[in-house]
Amino acid sequence: MELICPICGEPLARQEKRLACPRGHSFDIARQGYVHLLPVQQKRSLHPGDTREQVLSRRAFLESGAYLPIVEAVREAAKAHYTGGEVLDVGCGEGWYAVQVAEALKAPLTGLDISKEAVRCAAAKYKHARWICGTAAHLPVTDGSVGLLMSMFALTVPEEFRRVLKEDGIFLQVLAAQDHLMGLKSIIYPEILLKEKDSVPKIEGFALAESIPVRFDFTAQGEQIGNLLSMTPHFWRISAEGAKRLEETKVLRDTASCVVNVYQRA
Ligand SMILES: C[S@@+](CC[C@H](N)C(=O)[O-])C[C@H]1O[C@@H](n2cnc3c(N)ncnc32)[C@H](O)[C@@H]1O
Ligand SMILES: [Zn+2]
Repeated sequence: MELICPICGEPLARQEKRLACPRGHSFDIARQGYVHLLPVQQKRSLHPGDTREQVLSRRAFLESGAYLPIVEAVREAAKAHYTGGEVLDVGCGEGWYAVQVAEALKAPLTGLDISKEAVRCAAAKYKHARWICGTAAHLPVTDGSVGLLMSMFALTVPEEFRRVLKEDGIFLQVLAAQDHLMGLKSIIYPEILLKEKDSVPKIEGFALAESIPVRFDFTAQGEQIGNLLSMTPHFWRISAEGAKRLEETKVLRDTASCVVNVYQRA
């Protein structure tokens, strides 16, 4: 998987502490080891993606082991369908899932996230992998170069994902199901509006190979309750009253419910 210029698509070559393309676009390699390949014109805000606080909360929650059944399901699905090649995790966050999946496959790993804080945290801890601050909308990698592309609780960009996958590459997508975290939702919202949600979507240019539901109970206590909230979109939607009710909650018994979808190029 070679890196390409996110502006013009030409190959990038290393020049000391930067990567540069033949047309003169150049990008810094940060002290922490990640590459910043997000040009201003591809940013929607000054600091896009998860904040440092969210990234650290996510790491604390994931490392508590509460979501181990999810990574186990993803690892098994990957092992069953993978045919070789490099792993690219899009919207990789702080890297916990990606590192374990790539290790199980003994494959080289690249993680990409639009949040600089997320890739900075990933690069600081997992030095053997490559980390990129970039956007899923314009993946800075060559066509047909990825063996396993994963997107966990993050976005899917069909055309771009298809472009970078090898012919026999797979796309592994994890989506929250409708009944994910009902315990948390019932504390923070006065009433829960169940929106119709397709957790096994049809994706243009892809064929579904397998869909594996993952559902399990877990308990979060003390700080882990707030950490869990910051990992979810409810973090942005919660009201002051909802936040207060959650702060008063000492022990949260909840159910995680998601779907691991495996797609092949159609
Ligand atoms: C819900 S988090 C999931 C993180 C990680 N996959 C996990 O499950 O722990 C979604 C991630 O997508 C990132 N993100 C949002 N928009 C993005 C984009 N356009 N390109 C790449 N990453 C993006 C966010 O910064 C965040 O880290
Ligand atoms: Zn360029």
